[in-house]
Amino acid sequence: MSNTVDMARLMSKQLPRHLMAFLVGSGVQGANNGFQVYLVGGMVRDVLLNRRPGDPDLLVQETVPTMDAAERFAIMLAGTLGGSVSAPSQFGTVKLDVDGLVVDIATARRETYESPGALPSVRPATIEGDQYRRDFTVNAIAVDLAPNRFGTILDHAGGVEDIEHRVLAVLHDKSFQDDPTRCFRAARYMPRLGLHMSMVTETDLRRSVGAVAELSADRVRHEMERMLAEPAPEQALAHAEDFGLLNAVLPGLSWSPAMTRAAPAIRDAGPLGCLALLATHLSKEDAAKFAERINAPAQWASVIEDTVTVRERLHELSDEGLTSARVYSILGGMASEAVRAWAVLTEEEVTAGRLRDYYERLRHVHPALNGDDLLALGVPEGPFVGELLRELLIARLNGAVSSRGDEESLVQRRLSA
Ligand code: CTP
Repeated sequence: MSNTVDMARLMSKQLPRHLMAFLVGSGVQGANNGFQVYLVGGMVRDVLLNRRPGDPDLLVQETVPTMDAAERFAIMLAGTLGGSVSAPSQFGTVKLDVDGLVVDIATARRETYESPGALPSVRPATIEGDQYRRDFTVNAIAVDLAPNRFGTILDHAGGVEDIEHRVLAVLHDKSFQDDPTRCFRAARYMPRLGLHMSMVTETDLRRSVGAVAELSADRVRHEMERMLAEPAPEQALAHAEDFGLLNAVLPGLSWSPAMTRAAPAIRDAGPLGCLALLATHLSKEDAAKFAERINAPAQWASVIEDTVTVRERLHELSDEGLTSARVYSILGGMASEAVRAWAVLTEEEVTAGRLRDYYERLRHVHPALNGDDLLALGVPEGPFVGELLRELLIARLNGAVSSRGDEESLVQRRLSA
């Protein structure tokens, strides 16, 4: 396939016109200013897979390699094509924003890992050297953007053939050890791209999964975020479970087939819906440890904690003859994702129905009257106002009042009692 792919034609067929114009322009400006410029990473892979690509990654190289080539190239490009350039990261990569098109630009580099899970030290390299540092062969294909070679594929690792055979494979057996975040990336790529893992790669991954324990909390959270943001996160999580990856994040953290079945019903809740599903089986202590292990932001931490709290209250919800007001008081204030996770996971019909009722209806119930309305009706200022508001809410929840007029009559009755 490699020799027969007409990449220039595939790119012009699949990429939006403004993106194609940008890539052609980058190659021309690069050639005019002494830079070799390549399209690399996910966009090359996605064009070859005929999938909608994300944002482009460019790689630049100079005859005499230096680490700041990307920054100088981006500033030059912004000067000619317009746009703004971010400050360089610790690896010398920059982001160029051209009218909302965000382009990652990196200097061709080699990486050395001092210890598993640590960030690498980098030094400038050739394009071949750069390809070797990458995670998977399918992500290690470069496309030359120089005007006289536009579309030429550089594929030292056999990525094009792996795409053809739908194989996910690392470039060398230390890949997962060097960078354990690649275990998460594998779990994401397999379902999204429809790839299966080569046996050698799978053996490497399973052998290296323990190195995830060395990753910082922020790096683990970033990988979790990316997994939960996948189009079908439940499939990525099922792979993560199968690889022993979740257990390596926190002993006891796991994803079950029941969660996989339940997840599509909670898709519209976004990433936090699946996060709640993931937390359903955790003990209170493990929930707190999980939040700490991923340095969870406040909203994530409440979803995790509330999911466990809702589980502890489930038995109360199965009680026959429960009023809506009682359901409200059991679930009131819980994160909606926590309630929904249990609504889609609970098999017991009465409980599941009450969780759904709370999520769909009860949590939106409010009295029509507010504190000012009560004062205007002659209720004296003080704790009685709050008491009456609570009473109105309960009456609303239980269907004893259904209009503003009903509420006013209830207040009048209480005032004259
Ligand atoms: N990369 C890597 N190892 C990592 C992260 C990234 O080798 N741990 C390389 C891969 O070549 C990848 C490129 O950097 O293709 C860009 O990384 P990223 O933007 O995270 O991935 P994409 O390939 O763009 O994938 P996605 O579709 O998930 O965005």
